[in-house]
Amino acid sequence: MSQPAIHADVYPTISPEALAGLNNGKVAVVTGAARGIGKAIALAMAKTGANVALLDLDAERQAETKAECEKIGVKAFAYACDVTNYDVGKQVYAQIQKDLGDVHILVNNAGGNSRRPMHMETWEHFWHGVEVNVKGALIWSSLVLPDFRARRQGSIINIASRAGTVTMPFAAAYSTGKAGLIRFSACLQSELDLDGFGDDIQVYALHPGAVRTQMTIPIHDDVAENYPDMVKKWGSFHKLFRCVPEVCGQTCAFLSTGRGKVLRGKYFDCEQDIGTVVAAGREGLKELYDLKVDFLGGLPNDGGTVSSSALEKA
Ligand SMILES: NC(=O)c1ccc[n+]([C@@H]2O[C@H](COP(=O)([O-])OP(=O)(O)OC[C@H]3O[C@@H](n4cnc5c(N)ncnc54)[C@H](O)[C@@H]3O)[C@@H](O)[C@H]2O)c1
Repeated sequence: MSQPAIHADVYPTISPEALAGLNNGKVAVVTGAARGIGKAIALAMAKTGANVALLDLDAERQAETKAECEKIGVKAFAYACDVTNYDVGKQVYAQIQKDLGDVHILVNNAGGNSRRPMHMETWEHFWHGVEVNVKGALIWSSLVLPDFRARRQGSIINIASRAGTVTMPFAAAYSTGKAGLIRFSACLQSELDLDGFGDDIQVYALHPGAVRTQMTIPIHDDVAENYPDMVKKWGSFHKLFRCVPEVCGQTCAFLSTGRGKVLRGKYFDCEQDIGTVVAAGREGLKELYDLKVDFLGGLPNDGGTVSSSALEKA
C-alpha cells in the first residue's frame, strides 16, 4: 500500500475545481463559520454549489463569511447560535429549514481551547471547554439525524483534533471533548450501519491540520508566569502550524460529496492525502484511523467479551 503524502496546501484531489457543482441544490450547515477553519469550510461548501447556513456567536464576522459565500453564487444565511444550547439549536434548525429547505450536510466545527491547566480555571470555564467541543456537535447531530434517516441521505463532519488522540498539558477540557467527539462519530456510524444506512449517511471525525488561527494564539500571561518552560515549548510547537485552513475546508467538501465513504465512522487527519487513503479501501483501513488501547499480553480491547468468555470457562 502506498504511503499518503502530507499536505499543508490544497492539492488536486480536493481542489475546488475537482468538486465544483457536486453539491448543487444541497444545504450545508457549518458551525463556527465566522472565522478561521469554519469560514474556510463554509466557502469550500459554497464552491461545491451547496447553499450554506452559517452559525456562530460573532455576528460581525459571520456577515463577512455570508457575503463571501454569496459572491460565489449560492444562498447564504447567518444565524446567531450558541451551539451548546439545545433550545436555541432547535429554533435555529427549524428556521434553516424554512429559509433554505432540507439540510444534507452538517459540519460541526465550532470549538475552542483555553490552553490553561485545570487548576487555573474556574469549574464553569473548564466545563464550557468540554461542552463547546463535544456537546454542540452532539446537539446538532441529534437535530439533523431524524431527517437524515427519514430521507436516507446526509453527512455529518465533526471537526475534532489530534488533541483527542494524544496526551498533553493545558488541554484537559479540550482533549476530553475532542476524544469524546471522535468516539461519538464512530459509535453513531455503527448505529447507522446496523440499520443499513452506511452507504447513505456518513459521519466523520477530522483533525483539520495544524492551522494558525485565533485559537492558536500564545499562552496566557498568568499561565506563562507559572510555566515559563512551556512558553518556549509552545513557541517551537507553534512554528509547525503551517497548514492552511482551506485544506480542512476542501477535505470537508470532498467528504460531503460521498467520495470518501470508506472513511465513514473514522478519524482522519486532513494533512494526509485523502485520495491515497481512500484508495486503500474499507478493508485496508480496518483497525486504522480509530482511537484504540493496546494491552501488554495482547488482550484485545473488544468491549468485555474476553472477560465474559473467561468467566464462562471458569
Ligand atoms: N487551528 C488548529 O490548528 C486546530 C487544530 C485542531 C482542531 N481545531 C479545531 O478546529 C475548529 C475551528 O478552530 P479554529 O482554529 O478555526 O478556531 P477559531 O477560534 O478561529 O474559530 C472558532 C469559531 O467558533 C465560534 N464559536 C466558539 N464557540 C461557539 C459557540 N458556543 N457557538 C457557536 N460558535 C462558537 C467562534 O466564534 C469562532 O468563529 C475547532 O473545533 C478547533 O478545536 C483547530
